[in-house]
Amino acid sequence: MKIIKVKNNQEAGIQAAQIILEKIHANPGCILGLATGSTPITTYQNLIQAYEHKQVSFKDVITFNLDEYKGLNPTNPQSYRFFMNNELFDHIDIKIENTHVPSGLHTQNPALYDQKIHKAGGIDLQLLGLGVNGHIGFNEPGTAFDSLTHVVDLDPSTIAVNARFFDSIDLVPTQAISMGLKTIMNAKQILLIATGTNKAEAIAHLINGEITPNWPCSILQQHPNVVIIIDEAAGSMLK
Ligand code: F6R
Repeated sequence: MKIIKVKNNQEAGIQAAQIILEKIHANPGCILGLATGSTPITTYQNLIQAYEHKQVSFKDVITFNLDEYKGLNPTNPQSYRFFMNNELFDHIDIKIENTHVPSGLHTQNPALYDQKIHKAGGIDLQLLGLGVNGHIGFNEPGTAFDSLTHVVDLDPSTIAVNARFFDSIDLVPTQAISMGLKTIMNAKQILLIATGTNKAEAIAHLINGEITPNWPCSILQQHPNVVIIIDEAAGSMLK
């Protein structure tokens, strides 16, 4: 596990974008796993800037997002498909048909998403944020380590944290479809970003804790190629 320490989320975005750009330069048709949430926004801003400065083309890149709220239409501004279009895809030369976000509407056979990833060749680099409770994707505490893409019940704490994106907490969906922990572990490389004091406990479990489903992120200790970018606040509980 390689740990990169940065000052803040702005710097994390620069470092993470650099790693993603190197991956695309080495393999212009690479397969990226992407995340939503507040954390990767600066990363996406740096990727857009690199595209605008003609330092990269995304025309052959394929992407698979981690998760989507169950029941939300892709045109709903709170959906993760909408987020990805708005924060990244609409601003670069990626082919929209090469971008995949699990459907929040057709969730009957979620493991089909794993088959799609496998058919495409597997994820070369998976970008992750980190839940305050240690979730990665929407794999909440208690999720089996061998899980594939599945429908999940969101933890009340996740609903509370994500309520900031909705007009009221009652509007936050209570379920989502998420890549499983095994899906994530199947990626060839993992790049996780965590910034802010509220991520410090989860980071301590991820890096030094016992490997346990109670802290889903702890499974990453068993992945052979993980890069973690943290700021001082997120690293404040490390020994
Ligand atoms: C998002 C995702 C989640 C978030 C996590 C952190 O696609 O799967 O695991 O990465 O909830 O969210 P933020 O970045 O908003 O703190």
